[in-house]
Amino acid sequence: MGEAILSRLLDKKIYLANAVLLSEPQQQRRIFLEQKYQIQTTADNQAAAAASEVLLLAVKPQALDTVIANLTRKKPSSHQPIVISILAGVTLQKLEAAFPQQPVIRAMPNTPATVGAGMTAIAPGTKARSEHVLKAKSIFESVGQVVEVPESLMDAVTGLSGSGPAYIAIAIEALADGGVAAGLPRAVAYQLALQTVLGTAQLLERSGLHPAQLKDRVTSPGGTTIAGVAELERNGFRSALIQAVKAAYHRSQELGK
Ligand SMILES: NC(=O)c1ccc[n+]([C@@H]2O[C@H](COP(=O)([O-])OP(=O)(O)OC[C@H]3O[C@@H](n4cnc5c(N)ncnc54)[C@H](OP(=O)(O)O)[C@@H]3O)[C@@H](O)[C@H]2O)c1
Repeated sequence: MGEAILSRLLDKKIYLANAVLLSEPQQQRRIFLEQKYQIQTTADNQAAAAASEVLLLAVKPQALDTVIANLTRKKPSSHQPIVISILAGVTLQKLEAAFPQQPVIRAMPNTPATVGAGMTAIAPGTKARSEHVLKAKSIFESVGQVVEVPESLMDAVTGLSGSGPAYIAIAIEALADGGVAAGLPRAVAYQLALQTVLGTAQLLERSGLHPAQLKDRVTSPGGTTIAGVAELERNGFRSALIQAVKAAYHRSQELGK
């Protein structure tokens, strides 16, 4: 995820390559990233933090304590970068306790961010001012769309946009299976399913139509689509999606305890 954000920040010239210092423990990976993006790298997290206006934390949550220990091992300097964390489940309270002098922002991107079509929610900490929030927005806008929410809604965000790509992937797979069941070759069925989901999302976004209006427009009386819709309703399709979001939301709450 860190690399996805990096590559888009450079593509969109939000940061120039010579303005980025990336900290990464593995030498091989550092060499790869230096060559691919023409950026500077270091194995010393503190060197990266000392040089930056923004410290973007993109390690696995299990590695956070090591990184915090690394970053706070020397006396605090007057240089206090904004801390932006994308670590799932790591609270502002924990981040602010680790970086008490610094503005902190918690962010939750999702996997489509890796292709620039992400949905990121950001929650500002107590010291984050509007310029810090704007900076965080500009970073995550490089990988898709951004909304600002209070931290109390981060578990709900996780249940919807965080876990949502899995629900939609299953829907696409099932649509393709339906096509195969109806006699289509697998590759054709998959292409039809994928493009139908992509196209419907784009149509809704660009037209501003409510999903119910679009559904009404494509269901003619006694026609094929209403027969399919009736079957979806009979099998609890809506309810399954609502319950999936709620289950992921509850699980995210449990994991955060
Ligand atoms: N992937 C997603 O869709 C997604 C979505 C939302 C949030 N997130 C969050 O994003 C974070 C990263 O996830 P990911 O999937 O991108 O994980 P990842 O591929 O494992 O990336 C983590 C990176 O951190 C590096 N690292 C490990 N220990 C370090 C240390 N002590 N100091 C500096 N760098 C260190 C790793 O280097 P090595 O590989 O060399 O060990 C690796 O490059 C997680 O906290 C996750 O919750 C991910």
